[in-house]
Amino acid sequence: MTQHSTKNEIPYIIKEADEIDAENIIQYSKTVFASTDQVLTMPEEYNISVADEQIWINNISKSPTSKLLVAVRDEEIIGFLFFIGQQKAKIAHVGELGVNVHPGYRAMGIGRALMGALIKWAADHKTIEKIVLQVFATNYNAIKLYHSLDFKEEGRFAKSVKQKNGDYVDVVQMYLFVGGAESSEVFF
Ligand SMILES: CC(C)(COP(=O)(O)OP(=O)(O)OC[C@H]1O[C@@H](n2cnc3c(N)ncnc32)[C@H](O)[C@@H]1OP(=O)(O)O)[C@@H](O)C(=O)NCCC(=O)NCCS
Repeated sequence: MTQHSTKNEIPYIIKEADEIDAENIIQYSKTVFASTDQVLTMPEEYNISVADEQIWINNISKSPTSKLLVAVRDEEIIGFLFFIGQQKAKIAHVGELGVNVHPGYRAMGIGRALMGALIKWAADHKTIEKIVLQVFATNYNAIKLYHSLDFKEEGRFAKSVKQKNGDYVDVVQMYLFVGGAESSEVFF
């Protein structure tokens, strides 16, 4: 667990999620999915049970190459990050992340802090070398954050998303290499 404060001095912690957080994570995720059209899941599609969420959390906790982090203020979840490592040996150095912040707490530095915690963990990890993520090409704030952390675009899935209003959106795949000779000193 690490102590943090937002740009406007609100204290919060970042910790690994536990199965007791399942219900709070579900409530938090509903709020996030209802707050933006820049993520894949629509609120009406999200109906996971607490038991299934607990299984998901436990599977990630057990995996040495995966990570689930929550940002918490006064027992309320205000940010969330998952990283899932690949299973097969030839791609075991790769994992994919997803990150989001509660709509009431965005642009206060929490997304950057969660990403920083993950990057530090990955850079120190003996297996993980490549962090990948996918982001809608229209999600300018998220892309700005990833670029500022040295993530590079490595591919683009054209018109992969169709918004409710019929607009097509490209999905951009980005990566950060934290292992070997290519790794840089951006880490925290
Ligand atoms: C994208 C998201 C995770 C960023 O987290 P955040 O806590 O809001 O972002 P931070 O305050 O840590 O900002 C980090 C950087 O992102 C950019 N950024 C974030 N919000 C921004 C805003 N409203 N306007 C402009 N730039 C912004 C800036 O470059 C910022 O750097 P700075 O602090 O040096 O100005 C968060 O806004 C979010 O959850 N959005 C909705 C869900 C989502 O899009 N998730 C990502 C899917 S790939």
